[in-house]
Amino acid sequence: MVVSSTTTTVTVVSLFAVLLRVLVSLGPYSGESTPPKYGDYEAQRHWMEITLHVPPSQWYRNSTHNDLSYWGLDYPPLTAYQSYAHGLLFLNSSVPESVALHSSRGYESPKSKLLMRSTVLSSDLLIFFPSALYFVYAYRLHVSSVNGNNAAIGWQLAMILLNPCLILIDHGHFQYNSISLGLTIGAVAAILSRHEIVGSVLFSLALNHKQMSAYFAPAFLGYLLGKCLRRKHPIFEICKLGFAVLGTFAVIWFPYLHSLEAFSEASVLSRLAPFERGIYEDYVASFWCISSIIIKWKNLFSVQSLKIISFSTTILSFLPSMVHQIGAPSDMGFIYSLLNCSFSFYFFSYQVHEKSILLPLLPASLLALEEPFAFSWLVHYGMLSMYPLLCRDNLILQYVTLLLFFVLIYSSLDGSGPVMKRDFFSIRKALMALSLICSMSLHLVYLVVQPPKKYPFLFEALIMILCFSQFLIMVIHTNIKQWRLETPSRISKSRKNI
Ligand SMILES: *[C@@H]1O[C@H](CO)[C@@H](O)[C@H](O)[C@H]1NC(C)=O
Ligand SMILES: *[C@@H]1O[C@H](CO)[C@@H](O)[C@H](O)[C@H]1NC(C)=O
Repeated sequence: MVVSSTTTTVTVVSLFAVLLRVLVSLGPYSGESTPPKYGDYEAQRHWMEITLHVPPSQWYRNSTHNDLSYWGLDYPPLTAYQSYAHGLLFLNSSVPESVALHSSRGYESPKSKLLMRSTVLSSDLLIFFPSALYFVYAYRLHVSSVNGNNAAIGWQLAMILLNPCLILIDHGHFQYNSISLGLTIGAVAAILSRHEIVGSVLFSLALNHKQMSAYFAPAFLGYLLGKCLRRKHPIFEICKLGFAVLGTFAVIWFPYLHSLEAFSEASVLSRLAPFERGIYEDYVASFWCISSIIIKWKNLFSVQSLKIISFSTTILSFLPSMVHQIGAPSDMGFIYSLLNCSFSFYFFSYQVHEKSILLPLLPASLLALEEPFAFSWLVHYGMLSMYPLLCRDNLILQYVTLLLFFVLIYSSLDGSGPVMKRDFFSIRKALMALSLICSMSLHLVYLVVQPPKKYPFLFEALIMILCFSQFLIMVIHTNIKQWRLETPSRISKSRKNI
């Protein structure tokens, strides 16, 4: 009886999540009908074209058939294999002209759009959905059996699957974040279920799909190292995981490993880290972008020193969270650490895009039962931080609709399931209201008011300052929460004292 009603809840939530994705898919995408460079949709289509017609050793190299200045591949090989598979199975089999070499540039048709959209939807269903389910079950079994009722299971799954930012970027704007993020959730779930080798393999796959998955690496490293150090044969345990990671990397990079020359010459590595584009691009709620309003980093320092500065500040900011996990690894601490470390990268690393907010939002959604308020706050400001981008993509209707659905479902469990903290001081309440009013007004002003000629990016800057301040408050809160968690070692110490 219990099982069947859980199954019903899970099915209803999943079907609703699919429905929303399909509806968003019907809308516009990045760079629709805007030659000559189009947008992310064209980038993904072009990678299918290149991987289908050019041998793997040439994928990352400039040649007559592969002009890297036009959407050159800048993700690791797993993305390239995915492009190849999608191009072969979906596009080439029914609309070969949409991925023909050279002649297909900027190809857009209703049928090819349908096929392109189904590649995203099927990847999402195949990887993100099962991983999210796996996580919800692992969480219940190993992390917290509190709030273990049916409604809470459905609610937690809904919070992960209905995250409006992810749906808009993948199924609206057009990307495949659900693959790397899905592999990451799968890795977290496997590790929580004590399948650490499986977890390491899955996380290595995520890293090989999008290098940005490295935002989570310090948390994985800290937690697994902390766990291994507490076992009988720490060196052996560490080697086991190390081999799993190296083995996965070796398989994925096989076409590039056969000759050393191909590896050093194939500018794969330099393609993956394009430093020449500057410490930030456009307007992002990152520390460098926000502080550049006062301090002109790009004029003060060379690219080389900026690389070193951003590298060191990133490490310094995630170090407390990582050290905490090495010293006292715990399942809940691990999830907090994923959030804290990924925010360090979002704030301080080199070349952060507005879409990178999806990375910290993932562990925030995994913490939805523990930190419902922080999660909803981050979703709200995460959405706002991508608002200018989504306006450019003409996705405002989808933006408003998804946000409304999210708020409705989020509040559906208010009080009955996750413990909502009602004990806010009134000053805090007033500040929150103020922040929400600012957010609402910025949404409107950005749409209808023409910015002053002297400051064409005034509203973008204001939006990012507001988002940055809210992210910063939340991340200070979650860092403190991580350090205050009851860790197994502290619990056993206090027991000893008794
Ligand atoms: C790459 O090759 C194309 C065509 O051969 C050429 O037009 C382009 O300038 C080259 N780009 C680089 C970065 O070398
Ligand atoms: C793509 O489709 C065309 C026409 O059906 C076929 O000739 C070609 O071999 C296919 N390409 C690949 C790489 O399979």
